[in-house]
Amino acid sequence: MDVYEAVKSRRAVRGFKDDPVPREVLERVLSAAAWAPSGSNIQPWNTYVLTGPRLTELKTRAVEHISHGDQWDEREYEMYPPELRSPYKDRRSSFGKERYSALGIAREDWEARQRAAIANWNCFGAPVALFCYIDRNLGRPQWADVGMYLQTIMLLLRAEGLHSCPQMAWSQVRKTVAEILSPPDGLILFCGMSIGYEDPGVSYIRTGRAPLEETVKFVAG
Ligand SMILES: Cc1cc2nc3c(=O)[nH]c(=O)nc-3n(C[C@H](O)[C@H](O)[C@H](O)COP(=O)(O)O)c2cc1C
Repeated sequence: MDVYEAVKSRRAVRGFKDDPVPREVLERVLSAAAWAPSGSNIQPWNTYVLTGPRLTELKTRAVEHISHGDQWDEREYEMYPPELRSPYKDRRSSFGKERYSALGIAREDWEARQRAAIANWNCFGAPVALFCYIDRNLGRPQWADVGMYLQTIMLLLRAEGLHSCPQMAWSQVRKTVAEILSPPDGLILFCGMSIGYEDPGVSYIRTGRAPLEETVKFVAG
């Protein structure tokens, strides 16, 4: 698959078939993604891939945890600044509107929004979940390295006919994830990622992007 096609066809898919993904495909993707760049080549990613009954157990525990109204785990990092300013605030608000209108949910229907959010912890039906941890002692440049690595994985998944959804939502139930994965102390769960074959029956609205001139300045001469 052409790189442009991989970039443009990657989107946060929120409806997967339960068809299993062969282990060798996942190994091929993750071996290639390891070629992602990182400052001084320190490769700050720590990745767990969960499938099968252990993933089913995690989904059940996480969905139960959230459905019972239990508190989210205390944050190890802020997902967004408390005062998100424009233009970011406006973009987030447009995203919310698009997302809920695709699901036919009214903005003020808090319960329906909660139900939609809970699908996160069922991995939107995906048969594979990936969890990416980063060492607590590492800084912002290394978090950026992890982002590049995760995007590399998502593009390679496209080349394999697979889709993905990166999910910070998993950090909100990080203790439940840790019960299953037992990561060493000193790691922070940055992000989960659902992986699988898309269920074409699930409707969505393709997210837009700001026009180029809003985010890019060409400086020449
Ligand atoms: C680091 C990161 C965390 C995300 N966390 C979630 C999440 O928890 N749940 C979710 O449904 N989507 C999540 N997303 C998906 C974004 O909402 C999505 O990438 C964005 O709206 C752009 O849409 P697109 O990826 O379909 O182009 C996350 C994306 C990134 C990059």
